[in-house]
Amino acid sequence: MNILITGGTGYIGSHTAIELLNKNHDVVIVDNFSNSARTMPDKIKKITNKNFKFYEADVCDEAKMEQIFQENKIDGVIHFAAYKAVGESVEKPLMYYENNLVSTIKLTKLCLKYNVNRFVYSSSATVYGDAKPPMVETMPIMDATNPYGQCKIICERILTDTAKQNPNFKVSLLRYFNPIGAHNSGLIGDDPNGIPNNLAPYIQKVLIGELDCLSVFGDDYDTVDGTGVRDYIHVVDLALSHIVAIEKMINNVNIYNVGTGIGTSVLELIQNFEKASNKKVNYKITARRAGDIDASFANVDKIKKELGWQTIYNIEDMCRDCWNFIQTTSQQ
Ligand code: NAD
Ligand code: WQD
Repeated sequence: MNILITGGTGYIGSHTAIELLNKNHDVVIVDNFSNSARTMPDKIKKITNKNFKFYEADVCDEAKMEQIFQENKIDGVIHFAAYKAVGESVEKPLMYYENNLVSTIKLTKLCLKYNVNRFVYSSSATVYGDAKPPMVETMPIMDATNPYGQCKIICERILTDTAKQNPNFKVSLLRYFNPIGAHNSGLIGDDPNGIPNNLAPYIQKVLIGELDCLSVFGDDYDTVDGTGVRDYIHVVDLALSHIVAIEKMINNVNIYNVGTGIGTSVLELIQNFEKASNKKVNYKITARRAGDIDASFANVDKIKKELGWQTIYNIEDMCRDCWNFIQTTSQQ
């Protein structure tokens, strides 16, 4: 199939492009480099030795996007393009609503116009709010506490309502838990600019000495060791879930949790990074971060039953590949 990947030079999109190419799908990537490196298309080419189309464009630019749909016979879309920093979304709500909602609306309209009837959407476990884990797809969607989470909830609703009114148009909403890790080549991974918001990239920067000390946001949660528990999933496993999701769309609206089903605490993740790197992670316990929940991990029965997909990599693999990536990057 010929798959259009919006946000395809981003962390998850680039890994997904690689796996699609490895499985002999054709790929068209659209990205405006608002949160990714201009070197990414060349890295995808180097890793796969496959050709693909790349357009530098804003998904909100309807005219440019229409041109892409006219120039390419597209069989399916995977929509990664969005802003994703929770804290930034609180400071700049309009920027988030405009980018994340308008891009989704305009892309969906073009799919209907050009009979592109397979749409996979990057949703997030954040839509479950502070529900008690394991999260199940049938749980009620909570009102998010930040504009980023609200964008995910609203986009799920936009796509669900559109699919219900257009019987040929099928959507799969993938609710990602916490993606970490990197491609085993070490050439690509999660390397945000500036101070990382997320735990794994922060630990990465402490390990290579770019940052001095990790703050562990609270050790008084109701968890195994008091620190926050999350369902970390290898980004390559996550990439592979998109392939089964775009190839097999059972209903008009399909919703899947994409995780390992296993919870890992902050201290446990630190221990796994120390084992992978054979270095100590310098950290201190500080106050909780506003909005954080005790624990989040997935019930992954549905995606396994319906799509036959489950994760391959464990937490040791994730930390090993993160460490390999940051060592490779720091040597360049
Ligand atoms: P990322 O920022 O690395 O990738 C997003 C890509 O989209 C970037 O390359 C950026 O340049 C591009 N982009 C953003 N707005 C665009 C626009 N209007 N037009 C064209 N390109 C645009 O983020 P990621 O971690 O790869 O996340 C991908 C998707 O998965 C996002 O929708 C995110 O909300 C979702 N998600 C991510 C996580 C996570 O922890 N990384 C968890 C759950 C869901
Ligand atoms: C994980 C754990 C923190 C940083 C976020 C978004 C979510 C999704 C994934 C986009 C928590 C603790 C973190 C640090 C710490 N993104 N932590 N020190 O908050 O589960 O999810 O990223 O969709 O929408 O909310 O991930 O990596 O920020 O935090 O102690 O410097 O690590 O308290 O328990 P989170 P995270």
